[in-house]
Amino acid sequence: MDHFHYRGGVLHAEDVPVPAVAASVGTPFYLYSVATLVRHFRLLDEGLDGLDHLVCYAVKANSNQAVLKVLARLGAGMDVVSGGEYLRARAAGVRNDRIVFSGVGKTRSEMELALSGGVRQVNLESEPEMELLSQVAASMGVTVPVAFRINPDVDAGTHDKISTGRAEDKFGIPAGRAPDAYRAAASLPGLKVVGLDMHIGSQLTDLAPYELAFRVIAELTARLRSDGHEISRLDLGGGLGIPYRRSDAALPPPAEFCDLIRATFGSLGCEIEIEPGRLIAGNAGILVTRLLYRKSGKDREFLILDSAMNDLVRPALYSSYHEIVPVAEPAPGEVERPFDLVGPVCESGDTFAKRRRMPPLAPGDLLAFRSAGAYCAVMASEYNTRPLVPEVMVHGDRFAVIRARPTFDEILGRDIVPEWL
Ligand code: LLP
Repeated sequence: MDHFHYRGGVLHAEDVPVPAVAASVGTPFYLYSVATLVRHFRLLDEGLDGLDHLVCYAVKANSNQAVLKVLARLGAGMDVVSGGEYLRARAAGVRNDRIVFSGVGKTRSEMELALSGGVRQVNLESEPEMELLSQVAASMGVTVPVAFRINPDVDAGTHDKISTGRAEDKFGIPAGRAPDAYRAAASLPGLKVVGLDMHIGSQLTDLAPYELAFRVIAELTARLRSDGHEISRLDLGGGLGIPYRRSDAALPPPAEFCDLIRATFGSLGCEIEIEPGRLIAGNAGILVTRLLYRKSGKDREFLILDSAMNDLVRPALYSSYHEIVPVAEPAPGEVERPFDLVGPVCESGDTFAKRRRMPPLAPGDLLAFRSAGAYCAVMASEYNTRPLVPEVMVHGDRFAVIRARPTFDEILGRDIVPEWL
């Protein structure tokens, strides 16, 4: 459920009519709803009630500091995967003991940054990374809590490019190597083993892969404890899917995910961490765009929009589906016809949808891509020298620009032409 709905025939974000934002900011723009962010965070936070837990929002999904601040105020922790994300979380007011540092290739300088500012835990992805972190921590005279990311060799059944828990994926270490890795970590200076970590993929639409992976983690917890390690925290990652189609009723509700966690780990006496990104931010945002032209092809009609693959790359990259709705509510009974919805970028991959049935539309009309709160603005680029799309946040009847559209002076000013040219 989200807070984008038609009222009086016009799409609103909470109490703000979308055309009012378009008039003020220009198109295209991202629009986020605070009420939706809060609702989704609480679904998980309250779902884990009774368990010692911390919901660590995966900053990569939407890293705008205003979004982070909304969640930090609710008590969220953060899962960061780079020095930049660490700095964003700190700038948004997140306490250092609520920041988990994940990521498959942390550099020495990122480790130094996180250790000098303080972190809750570092999730290790390999033995060489463990050795470097030990060196860095010891040279700084600090001890850092660590968990190894375990690759449980489970197929999350999601898109190939966002599946991370199979043996063939680059993430984590195999469960069978964990006893040796933990023995090594326990013997190294600067590291304190605190738990286990996993993340098997993103946009999971079924709980069965979690069940399999959780079993691996529970068994490994027992084994490592019997080896004498203190395992007091389990980081179960993120990945729970969201409905991209309103008709997607079959997704497991967050409460069932939380119940599965309780059933599997409730008796182990561990603190539970989860790292949801998409579930919190995905349906809390839309991308608003304007129809520039209707154009007839040989056998089809194109709708050419003012947003493009550089603004929202998911359809081009993963063939993913985003609902596209007109901002002016179609009258009941209006006849829908198939269109190809495309952007202005000079490649055919710049196609948002093919043969999508849409109501009658005219140039100048506003449209909204739904489910654009996660992995959209953060994955945007300035390809074709198209300025990054601004981000706007709505709270009740107020809205504010939370990242402005850059000017062409700013964009051109970033290039440096050597004086010898
Ligand atoms: N934790 C770790 C270690 C992760 O790598 C990720 C996502 C998450 C948590 C959060 O997963 P979520 O709850 O959001 O599914 N760009 C892709 C998604 C990439 C996800 C990468 N890792 C997309 O647009 O679908």
